[in-house]
Amino acid sequence: MSSHCFFIFGINYYVIMQDQPIGIFDSGVGGTTIWKEIASLLPYENTIFLADSKYAPYGKRSKEEITALSIKNTEKLLDLNCKIIVVACNTATTNAIKTLRSTYNIPIIGIEPAIKPAAIYTKTKKVGVLATKGTLSSELFVKTSDLYTQNIEVLEVIGTGLVELIEKGKIDTDEMYTLLHSYITPMLNKNIDHLVLGCTHYPYLIPLLKKMLPNEITIIDSGEAVARQTKAVLIANNFLNPNPKIGKHTLYTNGNVDILKNILHENTITYTAKTLDF
Ligand code: DGL
Repeated sequence: MSSHCFFIFGINYYVIMQDQPIGIFDSGVGGTTIWKEIASLLPYENTIFLADSKYAPYGKRSKEEITALSIKNTEKLLDLNCKIIVVACNTATTNAIKTLRSTYNIPIIGIEPAIKPAAIYTKTKKVGVLATKGTLSSELFVKTSDLYTQNIEVLEVIGTGLVELIEKGKIDTDEMYTLLHSYITPMLNKNIDHLVLGCTHYPYLIPLLKKMLPNEITIIDSGEAVARQTKAVLIANNFLNPNPKIGKHTLYTNGNVDILKNILHENTITYTAKTLDF
């Protein structure tokens, strides 16, 4: 628990300084897709990112396990003095955000599959959602999906094995192509015109997906929207860092730091990557 924390009636309260970092976590290296969006939109903010690769994938775990891991990561980010938490993981958000928000009295931002824009813009009235089992089976996802897709057919496909391959750095490989192709084919056969990427690891598959999908199919992911929401929450709470100095970014992994660095090889934002036990 951070030194600026008070514990009253079962809730943790925090005293916030504006130059404290934004804390971001994911089950692994995939959440760097969200970190990049946040760091680009908010260049003066300091950030700390946790890749919980040791416990990835979350998608096959129970709600209780995902919640316990999300609490572990949040506690670590608060120990590292973060002012807000961004859950850069659809699986953790859809299973654990309610518990996180009722436990910690600081803003907690989450990410969910962007089913709403897909439902609004689809012409074929058929959209595909590729996500983990944990996300697709969650109460929150089912509720959101029911709300926006009344007259629309939603083809939900579990991306079994995709996160594991990305965590091993095997992105542009035949193995990945074959697996991804097997998930996309049933959606193409159903004539979807929007594909929602419901996992923060999957934007790293966009170059491969573009080779498989006809141009008319729009790929949607929620990264930019999460960054915009993070900015709005910082402004609303008066937490924006007023110091016009380029932010410092520290990325920690409890797995292999080379995998983290490799996945960011095209990234242009300056960062430090380190291993950390959490
Ligand atoms: N990046 C996580 C997500 O957005 C991957 C979940 C997993 O580890 O299975 O859902």
